[in-house]
Amino acid sequence: MGRNPLDSANKTAVILGAASTVARSIAMEFARGGYALVLADCDHEETARIAADVALRFDVACHAVPFDATAYCTHRPFLEECRRILGVEPQGVVLCFGYMPEQREAQEDFAKAQRAIDTNLTGAISVLELFASAFEARRGGFIVGLSSVAGDRGRKANYIYGAAKAGLTCFLSGLRNRLHTAGVHVLTVKPGFMDTKMTYGMPLPGPLVASPGQAARAIVRALRKGKDEVYVRFFWRYIMLIIRNIPEWQFKKMNI
Ligand SMILES: NC(=O)c1ccc[n+]([C@@H]2O[C@H](COP(=O)([O-])OP(=O)(O)OC[C@H]3O[C@@H](n4cnc5c(N)ncnc54)[C@H](OP(=O)(O)O)[C@@H]3O)[C@@H](O)[C@H]2O)c1
Repeated sequence: MGRNPLDSANKTAVILGAASTVARSIAMEFARGGYALVLADCDHEETARIAADVALRFDVACHAVPFDATAYCTHRPFLEECRRILGVEPQGVVLCFGYMPEQREAQEDFAKAQRAIDTNLTGAISVLELFASAFEARRGGFIVGLSSVAGDRGRKANYIYGAAKAGLTCFLSGLRNRLHTAGVHVLTVKPGFMDTKMTYGMPLPGPLVASPGQAARAIVRALRKGKDEVYVRFFWRYIMLIIRNIPEWQFKKMNI
């Protein structure tokens, strides 16, 4: 744990994948703290509606900007646009976008597997490297990335999405290692199950599921405490500790 990365006079942040219900709750947590926000998602109409709602409820500046995680060449002009709108270098960025294909479909249709890697990993690297360099040059800021417990160990149920998230977790770990001396904080978020459109229609184990509000509060609390990594909900840390430690000879026979 370190110092509070939110303890800055510059109260501005960019939320990527802002039409996610978790991102919407995160935006509200930041707005409650007086942050001016840029909300960005490929669903621009929905993002614009969310931005208007957040601005009205919390009396803060909140702007919607179109953003496609897989349109890599647009990421540099996107950051320029964020700077122009906010009038400053943003203090932080929260990466919430993600794409989870149905595992069997991704096994049979490479386009779906590729989209999972392109969105969750390549898109994240493309856009976060730009924010990372800007924050490193300024010597301050924060980066939050929503990875997944799926990246902690490959399982037959979702190993293609899991592989992309494992890459993202590794990338965030490297960024943290690189940016620590520049005073830039990097928080890796590992949700288990959250009740969102990504999991809509899936049979979820009720007691293990976080609501978007619960998840957002846990993420902002972890950021405020200067944590490097947070599991949402907290008990996933212990579930995944057990899962990671099952010997491979036994794990390969299991149906999890
Ligand atoms: N829900 C869970 O149980 C769970 C568990 C572990 C980790 N996570 C991670 O948590 C994050 C938030 O997920 P969520 O559950 O809130 O899912 P979600 O509701 O599906 O939100 C993901 C958002 O990312 C957007 N997005 C997808 N592809 C994009 C692209 N190329 N460019 C820009 N935006 C794009 C989606 O827009 P469209 O809907 O328009 O495509 C959506 O608004 C994701 O990174 C997810 O992988 C979720």
